[in-house]
Amino acid sequence: MSTKTSLHKTLGTWLTLGVTLLWLLGVIASGVVARHEMNEVFDSALEETAQRILPLAVTDILNREGDPGLERVLALKEHNEYLTYLVRNKSGKLLLQSHDADPQIFGAFPREGFSDTLTHRIYGESAISETLYIEVAEPLDHRREAVLDTSLALLLPLIFLIPISLVGVWWVIKRSLRRVVRLQQSIEVRGGGDLSPVAVERLPEEFEPIMISVNRLLERLRRAIEAERSFTANSAHELRTPLATSLAKLQRLKTETQDAGVKAQASEIEESLRTLARLSEKLLELAKAEGGSALSEQVDNLVPILRMVASDYDHQAPGRLLLNVPDDAVRSLLDRDAFAILVRNLIENALRHGTDDQPVNISLTDDGILRVVNRGEVVLPEKLALFRNRFVRSNTKTQGSGIGLAIVEAITNGAGITLNLRSPAAGQSDGFEAELNIVVVE
Ligand SMILES: Nc1ncnc2c1ncn2[C@@H]1O[C@H](COP(=O)(O)OP(=O)(O)OP(=O)(O)O)[C@@H](O)[C@H]1O
Ligand SMILES: [Mg+2]
Repeated sequence: MSTKTSLHKTLGTWLTLGVTLLWLLGVIASGVVARHEMNEVFDSALEETAQRILPLAVTDILNREGDPGLERVLALKEHNEYLTYLVRNKSGKLLLQSHDADPQIFGAFPREGFSDTLTHRIYGESAISETLYIEVAEPLDHRREAVLDTSLALLLPLIFLIPISLVGVWWVIKRSLRRVVRLQQSIEVRGGGDLSPVAVERLPEEFEPIMISVNRLLERLRRAIEAERSFTANSAHELRTPLATSLAKLQRLKTETQDAGVKAQASEIEESLRTLARLSEKLLELAKAEGGSALSEQVDNLVPILRMVASDYDHQAPGRLLLNVPDDAVRSLLDRDAFAILVRNLIENALRHGTDDQPVNISLTDDGILRVVNRGEVVLPEKLALFRNRFVRSNTKTQGSGIGLAIVEAITNGAGITLNLRSPAAGQSDGFEAELNIVVVE
């Protein structure tokens, strides 16, 4: 189960639940108050009705001749009665009743004031020194229905309130987090080369410290990387002169000495010094590649550069390079010097690490896809992924220090290009392929 929480989801759910709960509590409270108020109004109507009917009923009964028996009030028109009433004497003898009245719902003896049965609310009133009683009954259903209708009417807005609250919360969070998302994006789009401080204006107060910490970290990182680069560049540069001087002295020693043993030893030292010189050159290239953006200000045709570098190597390994480039120009913002260094490293690798007597294919398409392919043993994927790091090599029998691909990687990173390394090469069962799109446009 994912432990990640989304602000949208958490706040949306809890705020909506909270609003719904408060609304429900409000509905319950309103229902209770409404019921109380309605009871008061209904009771007063019940009382009023009893007091209005009583004088009429008394007059009617007193005007009867002989024995005042039961009389039922006839309905003028057929209708259902909400309020029904009975007029009885003190001993409970029925004298008058409304046409729908059911004596069963009243007690055996009349009572004054309000009383409740399971189904009715009854009000009793007496006249003529408590000899005649009127009781008016109202079904409780009627009251319950009124309270229920009021409560339902109050519940109805919830149908709209829940989605409005969800959408509202979602929208407010999205709006408030707009700048935080911008901060996240501005950190995300940065490659290793861009360590300038991130700046997002009017960030919510709670997120400001994150931006400050990120900027502090970037600043420390930038200083550390700069220190490392300048150290590499300076030391490589400083090594140049003593290395060249030592090589010159060694060569003089070789020509001057007649001793075969000394000559052989001098050759070995010379070889070591040359390796050291190559390493210092590569380190200098790497420091430069990592320091710059590898992009130039104007667009250049890179085909002639590729031809020139390839022809340099053609002299070293005649006939091994198969060059396939378009007649048309391939224009790119990629810096010409950086491109030359990149191609030199790829071709050098293919010649050096590929099978000796097999050709190296260098192809460039019209749309800028450069491929350098050689034959040779298949490299395991886990090793392949590491070759872009400095000083990583797999074949210790060949010359090299493991910096070439790190230089290529630094240049492609600086130019925003993706470098693909494959083994076996595409369309082959073995070998190695380096592929990249050299076209960079504004
Ligand atoms: N074209 C290739 N074919 C086979 N293996 C390769 C190829 N290119 C690179 N490699 C492997 O990747 C390793 C790293 O290459 P990288 O260019 O970084 O260093 P290097 O060539 O050994 O030394 P340097 O380039 O510094 O002189 C190589 O040692 C080699 O094992
Ligand atoms: Mg190399």
